[in-house]
Amino acid sequence: MSKKRTEVPDFTQWTVIGRGDERTCFGNPDDPRRCIKVSSRERAKQSHREIRYYRYLKKRGIPFSHIPEFFRVIETETFIGIEQERILDPSGRSPDDMRHYLKQPLSASEQKAFWDAMADLKSYLVKYNVIPCDLVMSNMLIVKSGAGLEIKMVDGLGGAEFIPFSNYLRFFGKRKIDRKWQKFVDSIVRPHFELYQNHEATPGQTTGSGNE
Ligand SMILES: Nc1ncnc2c1ncn2[C@@H]1O[C@H](COP(=O)(O)OP(=O)(O)O)[C@@H](O)[C@H]1O
Ligand SMILES: [Mg+2]
Repeated sequence: MSKKRTEVPDFTQWTVIGRGDERTCFGNPDDPRRCIKVSSRERAKQSHREIRYYRYLKKRGIPFSHIPEFFRVIETETFIGIEQERILDPSGRSPDDMRHYLKQPLSASEQKAFWDAMADLKSYLVKYNVIPCDLVMSNMLIVKSGAGLEIKMVDGLGGAEFIPFSNYLRFFGKRKIDRKWQKFVDSIVRPHFELYQNHEATPGQTTGSGNE
């Protein structure tokens, strides 16, 4: 009836698949591979930054192998939604986030697969100069595929500073990724890992030149 065909899906009826500090993530019942991340307009700073950054990455043609693919923005008077790929494991289940995953007892080979996947995610960020602004375990989903494991970063993308040089200049980008990654591993992931797992598989050195 309306002249403007906005086609806003009624996601209020959809299943909530996750909640963060700012956004609620709804699963699309008609397409299990899609979700919408919604924030109210008053608290949409993070969403605006992410949308800007996703558009920029899409234009650059980077592969969406370690972050969800971005589809579109859905806006109304009261909310802003980001429609993106929903991360699922190969059997269609919702993956654990990193914090929960590491609380389970893991075998030595699972522990190794975890640190390999960490190195792989870091290589991806550096290779495509994808700059994180918020590296925390709740933003990392662990997808088990066969014997291997992949870590998908679903939130916390894009430089937070006023003029995000590192988004555009690879040299500054790598420096920033290295610094943030080191802090993430040293002050968040490794202490959590050591609290719940035996120590054998903890790598002595996870940073450095990037050769794993
Ligand atoms: N693309 C996605 N696929 C699957 N689950 C997701 C996806 N994006 C977010 N989630 C889930 O929803 C939660 C909240 O989303 P997030 O973007 O982290 O919100 P916030 O910015 O408020 O932290 C996440 O911690 C995760 O569990
Ligand atoms: Mg989050």
